[in-house]
Amino acid sequence: MNHLLSIESLEADQITALLDSAALLKAARGEGGPQPLSGQTWALIFTKSSTRTRVSFEVGIRELGGFPLFLSKNEIQLGRGEPIRDTARVLGRMVHGCVIRTYAQQDLVEFARLSGIPTINALTDDEHPCQILADLLTIRETLGSWEGRKIAFVGDGFSNMTRSWMWAARKLGFELVIATPPTCAPPQGFLNDLNAPGVRITHDPREAVDGAHVVNTDVWLSMGQEDQKDKEQEFAGFQVNDALLSRAAEGHIVLHCLPAYRGKEISEETLERHAASIFLQAENRLHAQKAVLVALARR
Ligand code: CP
Ligand code: NVA
Repeated sequence: MNHLLSIESLEADQITALLDSAALLKAARGEGGPQPLSGQTWALIFTKSSTRTRVSFEVGIRELGGFPLFLSKNEIQLGRGEPIRDTARVLGRMVHGCVIRTYAQQDLVEFARLSGIPTINALTDDEHPCQILADLLTIRETLGSWEGRKIAFVGDGFSNMTRSWMWAARKLGFELVIATPPTCAPPQGFLNDLNAPGVRITHDPREAVDGAHVVNTDVWLSMGQEDQKDKEQEFAGFQVNDALLSRAAEGHIVLHCLPAYRGKEISEETLERHAASIFLQAENRLHAQKAVLVALARR
């Protein structure tokens, strides 16, 4: 593995190996474990806001012996129009790896190709692979496995989160039912390419949540879509709340990658009732990403 650009580009055994490694790193945290990033500097280029991803990468890089260098778009020439291909060729000569949060997946792919250093997707418009690794780790810890489980996603059916979830379902072979308004459904061409028998799209949240062991949601408007207020109206009836969850399987968990808009995609009561799994999921970003950093570290 040279980069982590997407869940689409991972094989099932790579995903499970990363989760195994994350679990070991989590169990051994604070015991002075391996320092594979010792002497290394890793850049974090973020052109969108972040709390969890930024903090978990900065802490994770330090715990593995490295130095994180946070570069927001506005502080570097990228924000004034310097092309990503030039930024890549400069940083590739100075730092040992790069974590990028941006809009176009193509910019990330171009950076990885031209920089020659390990590159990690910290969220693009297409995918959020680090989040899905943390989500899968949370499912393993709380339910044992995704095997034989029904996983529901209620919300935007073609966001970075749902795309990564669909690829995870295809690679690992679990059942994923996405409830989304017709205007937010994945295009047929994407579903044809995905070719995942376990992935189903419905426009009825109740059908998705019926008997589900995991109920997952995310914001209705992703970063970069804030001006599309009309889109929000499409989601009437798609809130994850206690009434909807009364249909879920006994012992179900609720996941939300956060940040959450209470009263929109999830009710206040439901978020607080399921805070244990939701904040475990947030913590697991750190452990999952440390596993990615260990896998990508070059000496
Ligand atoms: N879930 C997630 O990526 O959170 P941040 O936007 O705070 O990094
Ligand atoms: N789909 C959301 C995820 C945030 C972590 C977004 O892109 O804003």
